[in-house]
Amino acid sequence: MKAHELARELNISPRELVNYLQQHRLTRNPTGPLPPQAIEAARNQFRRPSQPRRPPANGERKVTLPSSLSVKDLAEKLGVSAAEVIKRLVQNGVMATTNQMLDYATAEIVADDFGYTVEPVGAEEADRAETETEGGQVAASSREDLLSLAGEDPRQLKARPPVVTVLGHVDHGKTSILDAIRHTRVAAGEVGGITQRIGAYRVSTPEGDTVVFIDTPGHEAFTAMRARGASVTDVAVLVVAADDGVMPQTVEAIQHARAAEVPIVVAINKIDLETANVDRVHAELAEQGVITRHLGGEHECVHVSARTGEGLDALLTTIVLVAEILELKANPDRNAVGTVVDANLERGRGPVATVLVQNGTLRVGDHFVCGHIYGRVRAMTDDRGRGVQEAGPAMPVLVSGFGEVPVAGDVFQVVESEKVARQIALSRQQERRTTELTGERPSRTTLEELARRAREGEAKELNLVVKADAQGTLEAVRTALGRIADPGVAIRIVGQGVGMVNESDVLLASVSNATILGFNVRATSAAERMAEREKVEIRTYDVIYRLTEDVERAARGLREPAYREIWEGRVEVVVPIRVPRVGVIAGCRVLEGKVSRGDRVKLMRGRTQIWQGAIRSLKHLKDDVREMVAGQECGIGLENFDGFQPGDLMECFRLEREEL
Ligand code: GTP
Ligand code: MG
Repeated sequence: MKAHELARELNISPRELVNYLQQHRLTRNPTGPLPPQAIEAARNQFRRPSQPRRPPANGERKVTLPSSLSVKDLAEKLGVSAAEVIKRLVQNGVMATTNQMLDYATAEIVADDFGYTVEPVGAEEADRAETETEGGQVAASSREDLLSLAGEDPRQLKARPPVVTVLGHVDHGKTSILDAIRHTRVAAGEVGGITQRIGAYRVSTPEGDTVVFIDTPGHEAFTAMRARGASVTDVAVLVVAADDGVMPQTVEAIQHARAAEVPIVVAINKIDLETANVDRVHAELAEQGVITRHLGGEHECVHVSARTGEGLDALLTTIVLVAEILELKANPDRNAVGTVVDANLERGRGPVATVLVQNGTLRVGDHFVCGHIYGRVRAMTDDRGRGVQEAGPAMPVLVSGFGEVPVAGDVFQVVESEKVARQIALSRQQERRTTELTGERPSRTTLEELARRAREGEAKELNLVVKADAQGTLEAVRTALGRIADPGVAIRIVGQGVGMVNESDVLLASVSNATILGFNVRATSAAERMAEREKVEIRTYDVIYRLTEDVERAARGLREPAYREIWEGRVEVVVPIRVPRVGVIAGCRVLEGKVSRGDRVKLMRGRTQIWQGAIRSLKHLKDDVREMVAGQECGIGLENFDGFQPGDLMECFRLEREEL
């Protein structure tokens, strides 16, 4: 039973009830269901025998409320004037103006006052509700739901080409490989065809299979897509230059591919160079846990040269083989759903976006919604700049007809009508506005937060990205972390590397909900800014056990700040002195160490500690002093204690907060 229901039963205002419950510590969360003893206590307190009950809420008057909304919007939803809502709010002790934002709990109370049954609703569910009303078609709306095939009739599923993302360190030849493949496999068959850079390409293998490539890096989409916990990628091709070997971004690429849980095909490039050393590359990859077939491992690998074209067909064939195992399918006979890979404003065409259709078929004229933007497909071109009327699963197309430039990574979803598209887009806009207004941000995954969640049994994994100043120290940190065994929490190192904490680390941490630990390294300022934005915590250390302590503590689920006592000195009470209007202070001699004004004191009489607390005053003769050292005499007043006896000892220490 919730507070507002109980308030109604007792015929008191919810505010009054909540006040009572809070004052008597009967509930910590007045918006949630109330504990039975709270209900009972409130009933005993407020029930008056002959109270007329208010009529129960009209079950048919239902209203769905977002996590927050303005007074005006609430009034609209309830079909009453804003003034009436404000009146109710005032009755409940909330002063409000028309544009004020209300949280769900408050809005719920008001709605309830007007006899509505309330349901919480996320924007996504709102979409669903609204979509359902149109033509009876049910459209799920979380990204996972939208892209999932779970609801599809298996008979309608047809094989689709794989979507392959090319990853690797700068200049290792990702774009060159794609260009070379496209040149031989695409342009060759399309002499004179205008090639256009849309970041995603469709290529045919010698055997006639189709493969869709997405070039990285820099593709915003890639980061945004990951951040949403989903990925368009079926297979990752890891490009490593044979003359350069595994480099920092190679390692990051591996981590990203792992985070996306996609198979990695290794392409060792530039084998035409004299300085090429393929064996070294295989060995270095093995160090990163990517054991290639070459060394008897599970990862397919191909030796290629974008310059001479050697190995490129083999690369394609390998990709096709790896993809075949995945049995990729989609249903072409439905409204299209896809992801924006790239988007920009184009002169003469307005906002355009490369959309990778992932399920269904996209047609010119379709109404769509994409994030908070809606529109209608005006025209589509394929990766060779040719106009197309429709695009099926795994087809990248350049789409025009957006209201504004969409955000790379957003889901692109075709809906029945303009009305539905507009409704969904508006509700998302509203949600966005509300979030901005109420300043709600997704909470940061800090160690403290993790600790709290661990304590409440929520967090089961503690994800870490570890950076250190050298391979050796990194090893040491990893080993130390490896020794931490917590029964409730799995400690996972999702990323690691040598060097400053950079943006890529932050990105990885952001998508895997990890905390970044830097050992003997700082973060770049760009990374710091990004961490701020992405709500990622970066902690830096220069003592290994501090780092492991923090992690242990987070794992153990302690949230309260822990303090450490740092012993400062020992002081003997020589004589208690009564000072008019001040009380009793102790005339003391510092025996050992020192005593400082901010210290805490354990007062010992013989072997027993009879008091513990803070120092109120520290004086030398008549002057306030900051600290006194061994051999000096001083007057010490304690906070709320004056029962000194000659011979008492004060053990002085300061508290140092242990960062969690
Ligand atoms: P970013 O997009 O900046 O990360 O680089 P990239 O990985 O796309 O590399 P890109 O294809 O731009 O190639 C970088 C350089 O390597 C260019 O100068 C290419 O000409 C050269 N290169 C690429 N592949 C080969 C190859 O197989 N052999 C030789 N000798 N040079 C190559
Ligand atoms: Mg490139």
